[in-house]
Amino acid sequence: MIELTNITKSYKDGRERLSILQHVNLHISEGEFIAILGPSGSGKSTLLNILGLLDRPSSGTYQLDGKDITTYSQARLANVRNRQIGFIFQQFMLIPRLSVQENVGLPLLYGRYSRRDRKERVEKALDQVGLLHKKKELPTKLSGGQKQRVAIARAIASEPQLLLADEPTGNLDVDAKQGVIDILHSLHKSGKTIVLVTHDHDLAQIADRILYVENRTLVSPDKRMIGGGTI
Ligand SMILES: Nc1ncnc2c1ncn2[C@@H]1O[C@H](COP(=O)(O)OP(=O)(O)OP(=O)(O)O)[C@@H](O)[C@H]1O
Ligand SMILES: [Mg+2]
Repeated sequence: MIELTNITKSYKDGRERLSILQHVNLHISEGEFIAILGPSGSGKSTLLNILGLLDRPSSGTYQLDGKDITTYSQARLANVRNRQIGFIFQQFMLIPRLSVQENVGLPLLYGRYSRRDRKERVEKALDQVGLLHKKKELPTKLSGGQKQRVAIARAIASEPQLLLADEPTGNLDVDAKQGVIDILHSLHKSGKTIVLVTHDHDLAQIADRILYVENRTLVSPDKRMIGGGTI
């Protein structure tokens, strides 16, 4: 489904170039669940943003379903992103003045859905996260765990194949965390491809594969140079 080859990312810092990622190679099969771990500042979010077409690599190729998308225009990338990728963030990113159902329906406004189709998809997604009864509430009235479940509903409403999550349980207490883990687990079982960044070992446990960002690159557990234990 996804093939990253020799991806690098660097930023210009005055006259110098600051290298964040180098030689990143990653193959993601359809239906796979990958957890990415690594110290703060190692480049996990940078990598996830590249995977999610929110950011471009400085060099290397990114193939999605066999097509090299590195050369696509911004508009074309946005189109691919809207159709194929759902995002879940640590900070939920819900719009406080919109109701739960309006938040979940927001990404659908960019697609060609009828009003009725939008309503059906929003309700189906909210039902999947167990929050259909909260559809008219404002997000400010929800607990952290409920907010994150609404954010998951928003990510799945357009039924993207790929879900990307950046520390989805980072702001949650133990019970709320378990609710989110259970939902991600069942989405994986239903066939979604999931890539998430986490510090949470309970969450990483449900992944098929754990990878580490280390020394500016992505390594499997057996290739780790530092630590060797937990991060
Ligand atoms: N737009 C930018 N310009 C310059 N440097 C950046 C930019 N975005 C990120 N960085 C740098 O890239 C490095 C990696 O950042 P990134 O956010 O990917 O880390 P992370 O692994 O997600 O960390 P955390 O666990 O704290 O979220 C950091 O040193 C950061 O300062
Ligand atoms: Mg991060």
